[in-house]
Amino acid sequence: MNAGIIGIGRYIPEKVVTNFDLEKMMDTSDEWIRTRTGIEERRIASDRTGTSDMAYEASLRALENAGITGEDIDLILTATVTPDYSFPSVSCVLQERLGAKKAAAMDISAACSGFIYGMVTAKQFIESGAYRYVLVVGAEKLSKITNWDDRNTAVLFGDGAGAAVMGPVSDGKGILSFELGADGSGGKYLYQDKYICMNGREVFKFAVRQMGESAVHVIEKAGLKTEDVDFFIPHQANIRIMEAARERLGLPREKMSVTVNKFGNTSAASIPISIVEEVEAGKIKDGDIVVMVGFGGGLTWGALAMRW
Ligand code: ACO
Repeated sequence: MNAGIIGIGRYIPEKVVTNFDLEKMMDTSDEWIRTRTGIEERRIASDRTGTSDMAYEASLRALENAGITGEDIDLILTATVTPDYSFPSVSCVLQERLGAKKAAAMDISAACSGFIYGMVTAKQFIESGAYRYVLVVGAEKLSKITNWDDRNTAVLFGDGAGAAVMGPVSDGKGILSFELGADGSGGKYLYQDKYICMNGREVFKFAVRQMGESAVHVIEKAGLKTEDVDFFIPHQANIRIMEAARERLGLPREKMSVTVNKFGNTSAASIPISIVEEVEAGKIKDGDIVVMVGFGGGLTWGALAMRW
């Protein structure tokens, strides 16, 4: 028995901010943003919408999709770097709003790798038999820690949430292998002071190397070959980083999720949002081998291979 995903949901704020909108706010251009990052637009949450509101909407959909209720959940793990409060955690807010009476709840801080960290943590509880259903959420309101006067970072980020109900699955499905890692010496390249501060070039170099390596590691650990991979979901930070990882794996374009153009970098929410997009588009099908890789502040990284 493996731990796998049995329900998914996402929430995307309504407000679209295009590159052309940003041209009016700062010294940048649609051409620069598109060619350097692949981003065309992003969603920004309203002042009244908090990270836990987005997490709640995504979670409701994931529970419905899984055919369970809040009362069935044993543990809630929310990956976020933008909780509404340092405490109570977003997970505790969800615990109450979802009526998850028996659930334990805690947040995970691993920046853009957070959703993979959450899935791997859930796997341990499920496969040990300690818990049956774990709700894993990635939710971010990055707009509130974005310095809108800094064109180096402001063009990159967006808001949103994605959620997955994880539980025991059979028939060789679920998580087959994983890798988690951290390198605190790179913390200086990507951190939050009041706003997001980033050395883009250093993060870029790290990401290109780590995404490809971690993806290869989890494929090998699962006893698979790159040609066995049906679909690849990289963290959606920059199309050039994603393309480098895809080429390293020798996968064709149509086997890689690209949502960064529509949503920008939504940190911990990027992978679960992409999962929902691709499942709804019919690109991830029953029995497919799916590889997911994240990297982010910390520095952190995480990857996993699973059979859908
Ligand atoms: N519009 C126009 N010009 C810009 C903009 C902008 N929005 N931003 C920067 N520039 C300028 C720079 O000032 C620089 O000008 P200069 O040469 O006169 O100094 C020039 O464009 C080129 O800058 P580079 O840094 O060389 O641009 P690069 O091609 O490296 O792309 C980018 C920058 C997109 C930030 C890239 O480095 C990158 O994607 N890095 C990784 C970022 C990332 O993935 N972050 C993850 C964060 S995840 C998390 O945990 C939240």
